[in-house]
This record gives sequence, structure tokens and C-alpha cells, in this order.
Amino acid sequence: MMARFYFPLLALGFLAITPAVAQLSRRVGPTTSTESKRRTVCSVLKYGAVADKSTDIGPAIQAAFAACKDGGTVYVPPGDYAMATWVSLSGGHGWAFQLDGIIYRTGTAGGHMIFIEKAKDFEFYSSTSKGAIQGYGYEFHRAGKYGCRLLRLAHVEDFSIHDIALVDAPQFHLFLDTCTNGEIYNCIIRGGDEGGLDGMDVSGSNIWIHDVEVSNRDECVTIKNPAEHMLIENIYCNWSGGCAMGSLGAGIDIHDIHFDKIYSVNSNQMFMIKSNGGSGAVKNCTFSNFIGHKNAYSLNLDAHWTQLKLQPGNGVLYQDLHFINWTGSCSDGARRAPINVICPDKVPCHGINIEDFAIWTESGNREYYKCANAYGNGFCLRPGSTYSSYTTTVTVTAAPSGWAAATMAADLTTLPLSDSIPIPTIPTTFFPGATPYSKLAGAT
Ligand SMILES: *[C@@H]1O[C@H](CO)[C@@H](O)[C@H](O)[C@H]1NC(C)=O
Ligand SMILES: *[C@@H]1O[C@H](CO)[C@@H](O)[C@H](O)[C@H]1NC(C)=O
Ligand SMILES: *[C@@H]1O[C@H](CO)[C@@H](O)[C@H](O)[C@H]1NC(C)=O
Repeated sequence: MMARFYFPLLALGFLAITPAVAQLSRRVGPTTSTESKRRTVCSVLKYGAVADKSTDIGPAIQAAFAACKDGGTVYVPPGDYAMATWVSLSGGHGWAFQLDGIIYRTGTAGGHMIFIEKAKDFEFYSSTSKGAIQGYGYEFHRAGKYGCRLLRLAHVEDFSIHDIALVDAPQFHLFLDTCTNGEIYNCIIRGGDEGGLDGMDVSGSNIWIHDVEVSNRDECVTIKNPAEHMLIENIYCNWSGGCAMGSLGAGIDIHDIHFDKIYSVNSNQMFMIKSNGGSGAVKNCTFSNFIGHKNAYSLNLDAHWTQLKLQPGNGVLYQDLHFINWTGSCSDGARRAPINVICPDKVPCHGINIEDFAIWTESGNREYYKCANAYGNGFCLRPGSTYSSYTTTVTVTAAPSGWAAATMAADLTTLPLSDSIPIPTIPTTFFPGATPYSKLAGAT
């Protein structure tokens, strides 16, 4: 339980012993306790739900929410429930969604299975750490289609999401749109092996995401515009697209973001920042203590990312970005440079800093570092304070010292697409050697 976050003064005490948390601008999480919300419990069973994996739980959730949205708990007891119609839960205050059962998608509409908006002081959790949403996305994917998204929060303030598994979304798993003062932790996401099945996409301010595992083939934990004061740490991208920012278009306003202790295996990248044209800025962000193995790209800032159509503007300004202490290996560093910092021609990056970076290639004995229009310190970046456009490639023929890095005990070796994905248990480790900040809610 994160009781220390309920009161700003106690939260400050906690911040003092956790240096990385300084990235956040103020306290995060619900402002009243789980216990106080449990004084009024609206069990979905009282509103027509049946744990028979066939009766539609949608109307029961909607009715339980109407009864409990001011200071109560919408409770889904352990059991298997079918969801045929989606719910839109708007405007609750001081409420919780306690998902101890498993919700199986049976409906085929698009949109979001569970959409929560304009809530204040909100908690979405499983008290047993066994609650899950099973999207059965494979039913769409094997036909070459996408379907609904699982869970979306928009304009939610003072919230947490924890101890939940989100599995096999027909499309995205979790989308946080312009949310503030949030904490997401002890969650696992497992999706199919193709693009378009994002893990967590997040925009807003003052959000702490920690101790999360994502397996899919697209975004792991990704920052969307606008975003500020976010701390993302202890993330295990256990076969995924990897963590990212973007894609970024016009009017970008992203600053004070810190990714720390990010482990990526078999992913598209360790971190990618992607834009093509566009305007606005990404400033003052830190990416520290990354470990990668078997990833295609490693550090990839691509401001000419042609998978995105050219956006209005001369380019996004990237300024004061720090990449510190990255170790491990990449699949083929001659094919995809482990340092690839390609900035806009008309808006050169500056204040970029790459230090203690040692990623070696798993195939061959040569790799490249590529920089274009990027100013700052380290590797192929150019020093100085006058900026013009340039392109440079450095060839590396010896393994950088200190590149060897720890692996996680149970890295994925395959990920299904056309078969059902079993609901995983939430792990208790998300980065080599790092202890999660909270115990699982269901730990006895
Ligand atoms: C940049 O971020 C650091 C924390 O990582 C913070 O201390 C500093 O004030 C920020 N700088 C600016 C100019 O906002
Ligand atoms: C660099 O990262 C590794 C693994 O993530 C960690 O063990 C090590 O302590 C870090 N080094 C520094 C100087 O922080
Ligand atoms: C990574 O995924 C594999 C395959 O599903 C699973 O066996 C393993 O437990 C996962 N790793 C962790 C630490 O959960």
C-alpha cells in the first residue's frame, strides 16, 4: 500500500530518500485511502453480473459506478466475467475500481472496453494482484484486423493503477490521455507479436510509472505529447517495440521526463524519439541506466522518421537530453547503429549528452555510431555553440569496455500472435538487481 502518498508531508519524506523521484513535481496517487473507499462497496453481482463467463458485465459495471462513483468502490469479485458492451465512466470522485475477477472480451465493437474520464482521486487495482482484462485480440489479429482498446483514462487526476494484468488487446492496452498526479505500478501487459498493440501510452503531467513489464511488438512505455514531470523506472520490455517518445508532430511541449532502469530484450529499440518535421520542443530529459540485449536499435533519435508523414514545421527542437550509463548488446550494430542521433536539418539538437554508453554488437565485429545535426558531448556529437547541419558516421571495431550487462532470468523467446495468450502472473522483479517500490497487493 502506498499510504505514504496520501499526505503531501509524508510524501516529501519519502522523496528525500528516493533521489530519482525528484523528477516529479508533487505528490502522486489517490488522495484518500483504499479503506475509506471500501466503506461503500457496489459489487457488480448486485447489479446483474454473473461470474459465468457469458452474461455481459457491461451494464452491471455501469450501474455499480452510478451508485458508487462518489466515494465508493465498484467491486468485481474473483470469477470469470464476459464483457459484451463497453462502459464509459465519467466524473467519479474518490472512487475505486477493484478488479479481483477476470473480464473476458466477448463484444466486437471498436472504442474502449473501459473508458474512465474526469475522475478525481481514483484507484484502479486488484487486491489479489490477480485481476485481469483478457482482450482475446488474437481473434482479430489472425484475420489481419484490429479491434477495441482495453483501458483508457482521460483527464483523470490523483490516481493510481496497480496490480493488474492487461492481456492480448485487440488494439492498445492502456492509454492515459492528459492525466495528472498518477502512479502506475506492479502491472503486466502481454500482447500479440505485431505493431499497433501498444503497451502504455501516456500524456499529461506528474506521473510515476514503475515496476511494469510489457511484452508485445509495439510501444512498451511511451510518452505522448504533451508531457511533463514524469518518472518512469524499473521497466521490463520483455519482447516489445521498446520505450519511446512520439511520434511527435506540430506544437510539441515535452519536458522534464526521466526514464531510469529500463531493460529491453528482443525489442525494436532501447529508446526511440521519433518525428518528421513538426514544431515545438522536447527539453530537459534524462535516460539513465538502460540495459539492452538482442534489440534492433538502441539509442535512436530519428527526426527524419519517414514512417510518419512529414508534419508542418521545420522540425522539433531537441535540447538538453542526457543519455547516461547504457550497457548491453544489440542484434547487428553495423546494420542499425547503436547510437543513431539524427536531428532536423533546420533545427539542430543541442545540449545532447551521451556518457558511459557501451553497447556492443551480437553479430559481426563492427558497429557504427551515426550523428546528424546534433550538438553536445560524447561519441559522434559535435561540441561547440554554433550549429550548422552535418552528418557523420564513426566505425567501431572493438567492443567498448564495460558493455557486458546482466540479463533477466526469464527473457521471452517467442510471442504468439494467432493463439490465445495466457494471463500471466505479475512478476516481482522488473530490472536486474532492482527491488520494486511496493510489494504486490496480493502478497501474503
Ligand atoms: C531539468 O531537470 C532537472 C531534474 O532532472 C531539474 O532539477 C532542473 O530544474 C530542470 N531544468 C530546468 C531548466 O527546468
Ligand atoms: C550503470 O548501470 C548498471 C546496470 O544498470 C548498474 O549496475 C551500475 O551501477 C550503473 N552505474 C552507475 C555509475 O550508476
Ligand atoms: C518474460 O516472458 C516469458 C514468456 O512469457 C515469461 O516466461 C517470463 O516469466 C517473463 N519474464 C518475467 C520476468 O516475467
